[in-house]
Amino acid sequence: MKVIITGANGQLGRSLIKTKPEYIRVITTKKQNFNLLSKESIHKYIEKEKPDWIINCGAYTNVDKAEEEKKLAYEINANGPKEISRVLKNIGGNLLHISTDFVFDGKNNEPYKTYNIKNPINFYGYSKSIGEDNVLDILKDSSQAIVIRTSWLMGPEGNNFASKMIKLHLDKYEINVVSDQIGSPTISGSLAKACWQAIRESDSSNFNNKDNPILHWTNNGIASWYDVAFSVGEICKRIGVLDKTAVINPIKSIDYPTKAKRPHYSVLDTAATKLSLNLSSNHWLFDLEKDLHKIKNENN
Ligand SMILES: NC(=O)c1ccc[n+]([C@@H]2O[C@H](COP(=O)([O-])OP(=O)(O)OC[C@H]3O[C@@H](n4cnc5c(N)ncnc54)[C@H](OP(=O)(O)O)[C@@H]3O)[C@@H](O)[C@H]2O)c1
Repeated sequence: MKVIITGANGQLGRSLIKTKPEYIRVITTKKQNFNLLSKESIHKYIEKEKPDWIINCGAYTNVDKAEEEKKLAYEINANGPKEISRVLKNIGGNLLHISTDFVFDGKNNEPYKTYNIKNPINFYGYSKSIGEDNVLDILKDSSQAIVIRTSWLMGPEGNNFASKMIKLHLDKYEINVVSDQIGSPTISGSLAKACWQAIRESDSSNFNNKDNPILHWTNNGIASWYDVAFSVGEICKRIGVLDKTAVINPIKSIDYPTKAKRPHYSVLDTAATKLSLNLSSNHWLFDLEKDLHKIKNENN
């Protein structure tokens, strides 16, 4: 089976390559030959390769910059997936599209279900939400699409919150981290396994992606960014990645202004997805520690 991975050099893309099942042949794209900004390159590449599946990890992911580069973010996150879907509608093949907890406004006080009403509060979330709609408008009725929403993605490579915190623990005596945004950290290896399982279950017709095309996948457990920052420091010190940790002060979002607003509560309800995919996930602390061990081993 042939699977194209877009955004293969990103956090999730790299984890997908590492966890690829043996029966799958992966083709990774580069921006030079597959650019989500270019309708022509999308059509040409997919028509030539004729994949069984495309996993679209390619995205404009800088949440704050998206407030300034709205056109660019919209082209990549909303129109890119639309063009991928149009080609697949014509030539066949399926799309596993990755989306985000930021499609919700964060006003819930219980985990978001896949069918809850979307209401993004920043432009990144808006562009991703339209991307989902475009994919499902074109491919849902022919059962050619799955959308997986995830949150707070962190991998052993790439620029993410955990890697930033390691650097800050090292460089600073004291850091301020927001404690009033609650979500579920997701280790990229866990999401990658869920993506491969979704493809397997969909191909074996165990999973009905016409009636339920949206899935939610995160690690188990919830946290604030403060909790994650604190845990990264404690684990890194215990396993010898760091000699010292910084003092972490919990602060409110209002005292840490950013260009893009963030939802206060964006926990995704993953129970239905775990049942559909017949797959479980670990607590985020457990998978985070495994990744931090990998970082330690790679640096030794
Ligand atoms: N990171 C999070 O916390 C988070 C949370 C929820 C959902 N998600 C979603 O999860 C998915 C994967 O995220 P990630 O953290 O792995 O992202 P990432 O590390 O930022 O990687 C994004 C990838 O997209 C590629 N890309 C950017 N512009 C492109 C274009 N015009 N054409 C083709 N490729 C392009 C990048 O290529 P270059 O490396 O060449 O620039 C990069 O490989 C995305 O859909 C994201 O929206 C992420």
